[in-house]
Amino acid sequence: MKPLFIVFEGIDGSGTTTISKLISKEINSEWDKEPTDSEIGIIIRGILSEHKPINPITLLQLFIADRANHQDKINKFLKSGKSIVLDRYIPSTLAYQGITFEINDLYNLNKNFIKPDIVFYLDISPEVGMERKKKQKGTLELYEDIDVLKKVYEKHIFSFQFLQKEGWNIYFIDANRSIDEIKKEVLNKLKEFYNAI
Ligand code: TMP
Repeated sequence: MKPLFIVFEGIDGSGTTTISKLISKEINSEWDKEPTDSEIGIIIRGILSEHKPINPITLLQLFIADRANHQDKINKFLKSGKSIVLDRYIPSTLAYQGITFEINDLYNLNKNFIKPDIVFYLDISPEVGMERKKKQKGTLELYEDIDVLKKVYEKHIFSFQFLQKEGWNIYFIDANRSIDEIKKEVLNKLKEFYNAI
């Protein structure tokens, strides 16, 4: 079977980490996330959790540098015949940094990176995302604010239209349902995808 590069996306609170891990286990693939656990990823997470003041260009470049370093690892798994599931990737940059920057400029920065075979967008409203985040923990990260999430949500929809024109495979999944229902739908879509390639 061809190894697949699968990405999960969604606003904060949509469950990308939980669902991507479940699916990865189910299909026996590698699992990883962005921001990564590298030195650059750790710097990014510190900025997000402590709301450190930062120039948006610097933050964007950190996400891009983290992703550039990640390419070798993703390639290595795919070349070894193993699929990889990622919790967030290029669409997160287009949506979150898309609040500040033009989509064409953001896309160009990501253009030479490996294109995923399939992206699952876990669709929930910004209100539901915020409620889930408030219940999960005490301190909220940089983007975990209702007005910001509303903008990110709009940017996600906008950037998926853009990416579809660039030939990306994107599936919208209603993520208001139970984890089991979401898992079932994702696995069905993956089966359909395998049969189609
Ligand atoms: P998470 O661990 O909850 O997924 O948090 C990562 C945060 O980083 C989330 O708010 C989305 C944000 N992010 C960006 O702003 N740009 C990016 O390119 C990536 C990968 C994540």
